Amino acid sequence: MASPIEFFSRNGAGPKGVPRSPRYAQIVGWGMAVPDRVLTNHDLALMVDTSDEWIRTRTGIAERRISSGPKETTSVLAVRAAREALRVADVPASALDLIICATSTGDYIMPPTACLVQDALGASKAGAFDLGAACSGFVYALSMARGAILAGDADYVLVIGAETISRLINWNDRQTCILFGDGAGAVLLAASPEPGGVLATTLGADGSGGELLWVPAGGSAHPSSHETLANGLHNLRMDGKAVFRFATRVMAEATREVAAKAGWSLEQIDLVVPHQANQRILQSSVVNQLKIPESKVVSNLERYGNTSAASIPIALCEAIEQGRVRPQQNLVLVGFGGGLTWGAVAVRWCAPVTPHPTRWWKTAQRQVGYQAASLRSWWRRSVRRVYTFALGPADEATPRGRLRISVDRWRERRFGKR
Ligand code: ACO
Repeated sequence: MASPIEFFSRNGAGPKGVPRSPRYAQIVGWGMAVPDRVLTNHDLALMVDTSDEWIRTRTGIAERRISSGPKETTSVLAVRAAREALRVADVPASALDLIICATSTGDYIMPPTACLVQDALGASKAGAFDLGAACSGFVYALSMARGAILAGDADYVLVIGAETISRLINWNDRQTCILFGDGAGAVLLAASPEPGGVLATTLGADGSGGELLWVPAGGSAHPSSHETLANGLHNLRMDGKAVFRFATRVMAEATREVAAKAGWSLEQIDLVVPHQANQRILQSSVVNQLKIPESKVVSNLERYGNTSAASIPIALCEAIEQGRVRPQQNLVLVGFGGGLTWGAVAVRWCAPVTPHPTRWWKTAQRQVGYQAASLRSWWRRSVRRVYTFALGPADEATPRGRLRISVDRWRERRFGKR
């Protein structure tokens, strides 16, 4: 029996019999942001028992970016990357329907970082949520964004991978502190009738391996306490060897699988943009197992280390900047990470890669829009504060309470029941 999707696509109609024109999810904008502060292997060698030579030969990493101070949070990096993606696409934030932020190091457990981004951009009609799939998060988010566009639920979806993973690191643990860095990358997906864009996706998970890469405390299983802090249970822990074995297997499998779904042979892949965890993982999975030449594999981990969910969009942005991405090329974006999770997406690149000429008035218009967004945010917060504290609880017995009841009634008449 045909699945509903097969049935309706064969009959060229949507579920209500409405003729369906083909829709594709095209990447039309991209941007990245990394902190200015650089932490080199030599710096690390002063902190733990390691050396530049050991880190380079075992991982390929030379330096990484570390967010400086409490003000350079995940959302701050995410907003910078998102604004750049909107600038490249020449699309206003008001056009966004959905914002997905893939992160394991959001500013807070609640609210979602995607909502902080929505507020800072002034994306007034966008839904926003965080997606937690560790380093595979960006690939998962692309898959969800594509689904929303193909279903007709959204025309513009902003997909962000953003992390300040340095905040989870035990800087005395030489096995983990050498690997990670902070950063953010974003792409804007747009609905388009032009064939191409994100053509196929494959996602996988194996929860039995959750403890190979985890942060034991801070969640509902072990809420933060003096004891969890004293035992360093809020720090990232990893079984490096087991993760290495898992990564080399799934990177190759996922690449093969997504290429087959897109109808490509491995030779037809023009560029692989993999999660940047370890140069030896890229070598052993993509180059040795799949026989894809190294020249087709994007690697920038030497300068950024492993930025978790941000690593793929950052690598993509740099590949575009270096002229390695061209229209009509076949790209595979492939990742793995904690969970355990893995995934890949196949992209037929269609967007022009020469940036729009930046006109001063466009830049000014965008800046005014972001200023207006922060003003609007401030105004809403202030009104809420005044409403809550000045008017007090709804109580017929006190003047403040009666005033509150009158204001509530007026709001109900003016704006309807909320
Ligand atoms: N400097 C010097 N020596 C070190 C260091 C260090 N930073 N770290 C470990 N060593 C020592 C070990 O103690 C060990 O010494 P011993 O033989 O005397 O016991 C020796 O070096 C070899 O250690 P291994 O752990 O076997 O080293 P390995 O070659 O496996 O490399 C590494 C370790 C780099 C962590 C590797 O296993 C790896 O990259 N694994 C994958 C990690 C990964 O990708 N994580 C991210 C997942 S994505 C996400 O979701 C966040």
